[in-house]
Amino acid sequence: MASRLIAKSLESTVKLNDGVVIPLFGLGVYLIDNNCTDVVAAAINQGYRLIDTAELYGNEHGVGNGIKESGKKREDIFVVSKWWPSSEGAKRALQTLDHCLNSLQSNYIDLYLLHAPQGGHCAEAYRALLEAKKQGKIRSVGVSNFGVIHLEALAKLGLEKPSVNQIELHPWQQKQDIVKYCREHDITVMGYSPLAKGQKIQDKTINEIANKLSKTPAQILIRWSVQHGYITIPKTSQKSRLQTNADVFDWSIPDEDMKVLDALGDKPWSCTWNPTNNSLREAGLQ
Ligand SMILES: NC(=O)c1ccc[n+]([C@@H]2O[C@H](COP(=O)([O-])OP(=O)(O)OC[C@H]3O[C@@H](n4cnc5c(N)ncnc54)[C@H](OP(=O)(O)O)[C@@H]3O)[C@@H](O)[C@H]2O)c1
Repeated sequence: MASRLIAKSLESTVKLNDGVVIPLFGLGVYLIDNNCTDVVAAAINQGYRLIDTAELYGNEHGVGNGIKESGKKREDIFVVSKWWPSSEGAKRALQTLDHCLNSLQSNYIDLYLLHAPQGGHCAEAYRALLEAKKQGKIRSVGVSNFGVIHLEALAKLGLEKPSVNQIELHPWQQKQDIVKYCREHDITVMGYSPLAKGQKIQDKTINEIANKLSKTPAQILIRWSVQHGYITIPKTSQKSRLQTNADVFDWSIPDEDMKVLDALGDKPWSCTWNPTNNSLREAGLQ
């Protein structure tokens, strides 16, 4: 059974099913462009220990530079990146991995994910990434946006379990079936878009709870993820927000308010794409 540890600080960690230890809190860098190096270095200097990037984001180099600029040792920072599954399979996955390592200026990545069950070649690429793990280029292999059928398909193919499934998670998108499956099968859940991309900062319910607890709406949303035991990776491109977004450990949302927040999921709403419903054929997992 996967752990449901609630982070107590920026340094809290959990052990994945392959033994790799991962921080429970980090910075997402989607759409952080020109100032990526600066924001990543600032985040690390404020205690962030995990950075979530992707081939798609085009900023792996900025992340690598940010780690260098922070002055921290590479091994003190946990880097997640993702291969964008396309119509080309294993060969391109390995090329993309090498490009990622060059950009990060590192000879390994901590966690490498298949970005989504799409492109028609996920099984083949996943096998190739497991080989790259044996060679030491990847410490841990996981997936993102995988629904239960995709996770079951990987198991049926006899492939090693992914360590992590990264999915959209906030009060309006709770994906309980996927979370339940992951927890029953020792796959750690990492939630993305915990702030619903900033689109619910004005929400009435969130603001009522924020006022009651003397917190910001963003802190309520981030704490909701922490309290559910998800690894969470709120994004900000504004250095001034790094500290308040991470100030979510020495207080909690009372049970009665968690129930109110959880009830927002009765009317599901997504702030982004939803590849979790892609067919096995689209994923290449038959
Ligand atoms: N695997 C996937 O398919 C997938 C999909 C989406 C995201 N992700 C990952 O998850 C990370 C987080 O998700 P996300 O970037 O989609 O969205 P998010 O973290 O839910 O929200 C980011 C938005 O909230 C704003 N924001 C941040 N802190 C705030 C605060 N304190 N008050 C008000 N607004 C605030 C940001 O603006 P500023 O930048 O101006 O602060 C930005 O517009 C991504 O960066 C990426 O690493 C993965």
